[in-house]
Amino acid sequence: MNILVTGGAGYIGSMTCKELVKRGHRVFVYDNLTNSKAAHAKWGELIVGDLLEKEKLTQTLQVNKIEAVFHFAALIEVGESAKFPDKFYLNNVVGTANLLEGMLQTKIKHIVFSSSCATYGNAEKNPITEDNSQHPVSVYGQTKLDGEKMIHALATQGKLCGIVLRYFNAAGADVNGEAGECHDPETHLLPLVIRAARDQGFTLKVFGTDYPTADGTCIRDYTHVSDLAVAHANSLEWSIKSKAPFEAFNLGSGKGSSVLEVIRAVETFMGAKVKYEVQVRREGDVEILVADIAKARSLLNWDPKLSNLETVVRTACAWHSQSY
Ligand code: UFG
Repeated sequence: MNILVTGGAGYIGSMTCKELVKRGHRVFVYDNLTNSKAAHAKWGELIVGDLLEKEKLTQTLQVNKIEAVFHFAALIEVGESAKFPDKFYLNNVVGTANLLEGMLQTKIKHIVFSSSCATYGNAEKNPITEDNSQHPVSVYGQTKLDGEKMIHALATQGKLCGIVLRYFNAAGADVNGEAGECHDPETHLLPLVIRAARDQGFTLKVFGTDYPTADGTCIRDYTHVSDLAVAHANSLEWSIKSKAPFEAFNLGSGKGSSVLEVIRAVETFMGAKVKYEVQVRREGDVEILVADIAKARSLLNWDPKLSNLETVVRTACAWHSQSY
């Protein structure tokens, strides 16, 4: 198929492009390169463009005879979303509305949307199932929920088939070292822990050791980025086959690790100490986010083989040592 991947130069987007190309699809990357680099759009043809450039976007869909869209492009940093809510609503919500309008105009039926476990907010229970109520506690989470709702509304009218993938914490790097996590500035835990292990002059901040968890730090479900890429490609195939108008899936490993466990795993692998200092809790953080992935396992035939802390840490460390 001819596939447009918005945000295809980004971390999860680029890995998904690799998987789609491997499966024989023709991939077009639509990316404004604000949080990514052209060099990371290794799989597919790069079109530099913004979701807010509505005409260019619709024309891109038309000219390239796009048949399905993977929509990754978004601002993703939870902390930043509290500071600049207007930017997040504009990029993530208006941008998604533009894309959907372009799809309707060009009669493209299939969309796979990058959503997040941040749409759940404080979960009723962990592991979290897809029917957990969605009450985001961050602006970022709210903008992702708004995207889901738009897709759901159009799917209910029979105008498109939408798959919503709610990622837990994407982490790790390509096993062949061809892609990995690289944000500027970096705010995510694992790259910062690796930095602290490699640079003894850098002190990691641990945001809160007073959570009601075994060691007092937050627990997250670190999910290998290559497993996420496979889930995306499987989703499109399933969507076409099932003709389901709308479905949401959690993508995680099903297992949680605390901040201190991540630090220990990096120390063990690198054979180096991670210097850290304890800070107050970070605004918008919830104590535990762990996915129940039974639905993705059964319907998408998805087996997140690489999503264990050892493999996530090993591939991330390898990527960071070759890149920086
Ligand atoms: N953390 C620290 N110190 C740091 C960075 C993070 O202690 O320097 C802690 C956080 O408080 C949190 C955990 O490490 O408890 C993970 O934080 P990340 O910033 O790596 O990831 P988040 O869970 O905040 O957010 C990420 C993505 C979001 C996505 C979310 C889903 O950035 O886009 O996962 O959980 F929505």
